[in-house]
Amino acid sequence: MSETLQTLLQAKGEAAREIPSESEAGFLWDFWYPALRSTEVSGNRLATAMLLEVPLVLGRTADGNAFAMRDSCPHRGIPLSYGHFDGQTLECSYHGWKFEACTGRCVEIPSLTSQDKLKVERIFAGHYPCEERDGYFWVYMSSGARPAAGGTGSRDANRGRERDNAEAQRAERSAEKSEASGNTSAQSTEPIPSAPKLAVFSEKYRITYLACDLPSHVDQGIIGLMDPAHGPFVHQSWYWRSRHSIHEKEKKFEPIPNGFRMSPHTPSSNSAPYRMLQKYTGEPVTTTIDFVLPNIRTEEIRSGKLWFSSRATVTPVLRDLCRIDFVAAWNLLLPVWIFRIFAQKFLRQDQETMILQAEGLKHNPRLMLIDDADRPAKWYFGLKANLLESRRTGSAMTHPMSGPVTLHWRS
Ligand code: FES
Ligand SMILES: [Fe+2]
Repeated sequence: MSETLQTLLQAKGEAAREIPSESEAGFLWDFWYPALRSTEVSGNRLATAMLLEVPLVLGRTADGNAFAMRDSCPHRGIPLSYGHFDGQTLECSYHGWKFEACTGRCVEIPSLTSQDKLKVERIFAGHYPCEERDGYFWVYMSSGARPAAGGTGSRDANRGRERDNAEAQRAERSAEKSEASGNTSAQSTEPIPSAPKLAVFSEKYRITYLACDLPSHVDQGIIGLMDPAHGPFVHQSWYWRSRHSIHEKEKKFEPIPNGFRMSPHTPSSNSAPYRMLQKYTGEPVTTTIDFVLPNIRTEEIRSGKLWFSSRATVTPVLRDLCRIDFVAAWNLLLPVWIFRIFAQKFLRQDQETMILQAEGLKHNPRLMLIDDADRPAKWYFGLKANLLESRRTGSAMTHPMSGPVTLHWRS
């Protein structure tokens, strides 16, 4: 291995850091996203996922710790998922470099001789914080704190730098500086919050999971999720509602950190399941629906001791592909299979509509958001823009809502 390449590799942790593509792809970095279901990983089996256009390899160590690495060897880019995982370290299938799964740190390069001075432990595979919660592997898609050795931009950058000794030396100096300041491994300056958790209200409950891919940008998926006006057209069915049941609604909303809440209210009287619940418990039914950045809609329905809690997330996979992950838990006498039939139908209706919408969006039409039905969508875009602005300037984030608001629409 050439001297240049050695210094280059040592420098990678600092020099080849990914540039967040926030601006071009419209993704929100530095948040948790669900990557896959826990059931997809067993024993030493590796699984792959794509989040925010980053290919990931995920697994669980022998001690049960979930991990997520960029699915790309920092040596020559072959997906690490083709390698071998022994429960602790992941060995690349190409030249056998070994990486600690939980840190991404390189621990062995088989081709090195005792003469080589390359500092193996300074090499990192791209690595992201990963937690297993509510039956999902969650990955914190950190934009800058990770030692992203295998970044998208790094391949081209590498090619350039292999030719450019001066640049490599400069990079090495900056890597040394970064090491001196302790800025290695997966340390980040800001503590990372823990992954989101579904609210449950009793010890025993049923829980079920659904997922569905949408061929659109995450923003379209999200505003579709919070859109009240499509219900009577897209989701019409005898047991839910028909277009003839459209009536005027008044809903109160309030700002919450990073999002907004549809204040606790008695659910729509044109939905049969809610009427049934009320009849059953004899107590009022209240629903609270929250949306928080980057992509989480939660809904809690409570009536006496009975409850239903759900979470839908719309996760960016590629810039023109996102995925809804839906998890619901309840202690009602509602068998999982019955719920799934209805929920699947519901999701399929949304999916089919968005497939049709994608046809139209291909041609970059001008779009509009109208009051009041699209006001939540406006808040979403406002939240997103204000968050990016506050991250850019370092000033506090302003909320697009100045206080509680009552919206009116017909659905
Ligand atoms: S490409 Fe992975 S070890 Fe060479
Ligand atoms: Fe829908």
